[in-house]
Amino acid sequence: MFTHNNMKLNRISSLKGIITVPGDKSISHRSIMFGSLAKGTTKVTGFLNGADCLSTASIFSHMGIEIDFTSPTSFYLKGKGLHGLCKPTSRLNVGNSGTTMRLVSGILSGQNFSSSLTGDTSIVKRPMQRIIDPLTQMNASIKSASGNGLAPLIIEPNNLNGIIYHSKVASAQVKSCIMLATLYADSASTIIEPNLSRNHSELMLMSLGANVSTINSTITIQANPNLEATVIDIPGDISSAAFFLVAGLIVPNSEILLKNVGINPTRDGIIKILQRMNGNIELTNIRVINEEPRADILVKSSKLTGTIVDGAIIPTLIDEIPVICVAAAVAEGQTIIKDAKELKVKESNRIDTMVAELTKMNVCISSTDDGMIIEGGNQLQGAYVESYDDHRVAMSLAIAALIAKGDTSINNSECITISYPGFFDDINLLSN
Ligand code: S3P
Repeated sequence: MFTHNNMKLNRISSLKGIITVPGDKSISHRSIMFGSLAKGTTKVTGFLNGADCLSTASIFSHMGIEIDFTSPTSFYLKGKGLHGLCKPTSRLNVGNSGTTMRLVSGILSGQNFSSSLTGDTSIVKRPMQRIIDPLTQMNASIKSASGNGLAPLIIEPNNLNGIIYHSKVASAQVKSCIMLATLYADSASTIIEPNLSRNHSELMLMSLGANVSTINSTITIQANPNLEATVIDIPGDISSAAFFLVAGLIVPNSEILLKNVGINPTRDGIIKILQRMNGNIELTNIRVINEEPRADILVKSSKLTGTIVDGAIIPTLIDEIPVICVAAAVAEGQTIIKDAKELKVKESNRIDTMVAELTKMNVCISSTDDGMIIEGGNQLQGAYVESYDDHRVAMSLAIAALIAKGDTSINNSECITISYPGFFDDINLLSN
């Protein structure tokens, strides 16, 4: 069905069966970072063994944290408390991971040693001024090595103060960066977001003993907590489930049960939008573990209709917009996606990349300043498309390929290992 870095796919007649998607990427990163700052041994299950989270693991190993994997998705981590990290002997490398770069910058700003952070060719083009600004207001010494607001970042020790920060963007990475630096500050910080972004940092830090309060989209975190290790079970990633939610809806004669998917309300916009588009999606076995709600999700083929995706729901589905474009391509009528400028600064400019590649597949899609407009209903055609080394673009195009006429070849598809190493195996499993 595919070669290693150039996946070939074609139309399939149905998708049927049960799958368990890999662990949540955001929560997996945090389990390593926050576990390292807690005292005692953190036990983690359901970890995402993908390239980004392994970059985080490697960074904390370089700072003296022992992580003992008992399976690819489970480990014991010996936390050393807020002040137990060791000075790394070389520049830390985050690979492709924006979450690692931005959150770890907050932690490093509070250390009593100097450090520097870099990453791959994509990460060194993504905006870091959004964290340099608030950290500088906290009196951190953090600089872009070439002075252009981009990585590599150079961090020197300094005493930090708490801040009140009005963030221009609803970004959990910015919010979490400030929260983590505040652990080392002399007073609390308050972050006011335009809309509430994903709240995994708040939930996990509270479960470790931090004092965090949230009122609407205003978050306050107290400085200098005592963090104690705990047991963390990570749910499946709704952002990975999203590909099979859309596939189950648009491939005819399909019925897929997705087990143990995280349905945190700051992340579940994809379910709401697909249901609004007339998608047959049912949640069962809803339960809460480690403050993170999860469910089994049953999805069946449906006749979708277009919709408008905008406003406060955007941060709750920001990573799912590429695959929402695929659902919209098949839906009857028009879909408008707006208020989503943040798409321009993800692993690729996802407005440009999705418009370019879906156009090659005969989708009627155009870009706007802050989103896209899609006229649904064209028959999709197979094409030779590019991933731009963006895992979510590659997987969205793969789902489009499953309903396209003729072969689709996705160039540079290997990037999917960032968040979903077994993605093609799961397609195979469901199509047999
Ligand atoms: C993430 C936050 C989001 C998201 C990213 C993961 C996180 O980014 O797009 O994939 O784990 O905090 P922003 O916070 O920049 O929106």
